[in-house]
Amino acid sequence: MSRLVVVSNRIAIPNKSKASAGGLAVGILDALKNTSGVWFGWSGEISEISGEEEDELSLVENDGITYATVPLNQNDYDLYYLQFSNAVIWPAFHYRIDLVQFQREAWDGYCRVNDLFAKQLQALIKPDDILWIHDYHLLPFAAALRKLGVTNRIGFFLHIPFPTPEIFTALPTHEELLKMMCEYDLLGFQTESDRSAFLENVSQLSEVAQTAGQIHQAFGNTFRTEVYPIGIAPDSIKEMAEGPLPPKMAEMKRELGDVQNIISCERLDYTKGLPERFLAFEALLENFPQHRGKVRYSQIAPTSRGDVLAYQDLRHQLEMEVGRINGKYGSLNSTPLFYLNQHFDRRLLMKLFRLTDVGLVTPLRDGMNLVAKEYVAAQDPADPGVLVLSRFAGAANELSAALIVNPYDRDEVAAALDQALTMPLEERISRYNEMMALLRENDIEQWGKNYVDDLQAIVLNSKGHD
Ligand code: G6P
Repeated sequence: MSRLVVVSNRIAIPNKSKASAGGLAVGILDALKNTSGVWFGWSGEISEISGEEEDELSLVENDGITYATVPLNQNDYDLYYLQFSNAVIWPAFHYRIDLVQFQREAWDGYCRVNDLFAKQLQALIKPDDILWIHDYHLLPFAAALRKLGVTNRIGFFLHIPFPTPEIFTALPTHEELLKMMCEYDLLGFQTESDRSAFLENVSQLSEVAQTAGQIHQAFGNTFRTEVYPIGIAPDSIKEMAEGPLPPKMAEMKRELGDVQNIISCERLDYTKGLPERFLAFEALLENFPQHRGKVRYSQIAPTSRGDVLAYQDLRHQLEMEVGRINGKYGSLNSTPLFYLNQHFDRRLLMKLFRLTDVGLVTPLRDGMNLVAKEYVAAQDPADPGVLVLSRFAGAANELSAALIVNPYDRDEVAAALDQALTMPLEERISRYNEMMALLRENDIEQWGKNYVDDLQAIVLNSKGHD
C-alpha cells in the first residue's frame, strides 16, 4: 500500500487544537495512520519574512504521522487566505456572488501560494506516494505540482458545494480554475448535485469524453469524479455526550426545569443562515404563543474569519437582532434567545446537544454540515431530541428523517420547531434510529477508506506515470 500524503490549508496538529479543522481531522488521521503518512499545510502562523525569501518547513512526528507545516507572510495570508479563498471562492461557491470581492492581485497571490506550497511539498514526496488534497484553498495544487514534474496520483476532495455555471462563470478566472481542477486524477464531491454542477461547467468550456464509469477526458486531461458524503464517528460522539454533566451544566439543567431547549452551533458565517433563523425563532413565539416563556433558543457562534468585511457585518447584524428579539419577547424572569459569540469545548458541546430538545441547523447553502450529524449522534437513544434541518445542507440527502425545511421561509421553520417541540416520544425514537443507522453505515472511517481505495486504484496513463 502506498504512503498517503494529505494536504489541506488547516491541519490538526496534536496539542495545537486551535488549528483544528473540526470534523475533517478524525477521518484524515485514521487514513494517515494506516500508512505512516504525511500531513502538509499552513502552520496557522504569520511569519515576518516577505519578498522572495522562503519560509522554512517545520516537521513534527507524532504517533507515526509526520506533520509538515509552513507559515505564510502577511501579504500571502491577505491575498491567498483572506481575499481569494474567503472573499472570492467561499462566497461564490455558496451562491453569494453579491459578496464576491474579486481582485487580480488576490488571484495572483492565490496561485503563488499554491505554487509555493507545491515546491515545499515536492521535497518530501516519494515516487510511490498518493496525494490527497483538500478543499477550496488548494484548487490549483495538482496543476502546481505537475508544473514541477510530479507524476504521483493526486486526488482532491471539495468540502464545500460546487456551483452551477450561472454562478461559477461569474468568477473572472473561472476557466483557469476549472482547467487546473481537471489536472487532478480523482475529484471527490459531497453530493451528486455538486459533482454534476462541476461536470456541467466542464462541458460548457471543453469537449468532454466519458470513458468507463465516471472517468472523463477534458482539457487534455483524464480524471475521475465521484461522490463521497463525509461522515462522523457516531460512537465516539455518543461517548462524549454520555456520562456525568460538569457542575455548570448540571446547574443549567436544574434551572431550566421544564423549559424546552433549542440549540444551534456553527462558525459565525453568512452561509449558515443565522439572521433568517433568528427571525424564524421570533415567528415561533409570534405564531405559537403557547411556547412563550417555555422555550429557550441558544445560538453558539464563535467568530470566524473576522478580518473579512462580510463577517464583521454579519456579527453586527446578529448582535442587533438578539437585542431586538429579547427586548420584545423577554420578561423579568426569562430570556428567550441566548447568543454566545464564543468557542465551546467539543466534549461539552456534545453533552449540551444531548440535553436539548431540538437541534436547529438551517444553512442557506452548505457542503455537508457535520453539526447536523453530530447533533443526532449525541442524543439519548431512549429520549432523543429532534433535528430541524435545511434542505440546502448536503446532509439533508442522507438525513431525510429530520424535519426538512426551507430556511428562507420563517413560518415554515417556525411550524417545524413547533412540531419538533411537541413530537411524541415514539416518533422521535423512530426518526433517530433511522438517522443513526445511516450515520453508522457511512461513518468517517469508511469515508476516508472509500476515497483512498479509489485514489489508489486509479490507473494513470495520460500523464505517463504507470
Ligand atoms: C470550512 C472549510 C474548511 C475550513 C473551515 C474553518 O469547514 O470547508 O476548509 O478549514 O471551514 O475555516 P477557517 O477559515 O478557519 O479555516
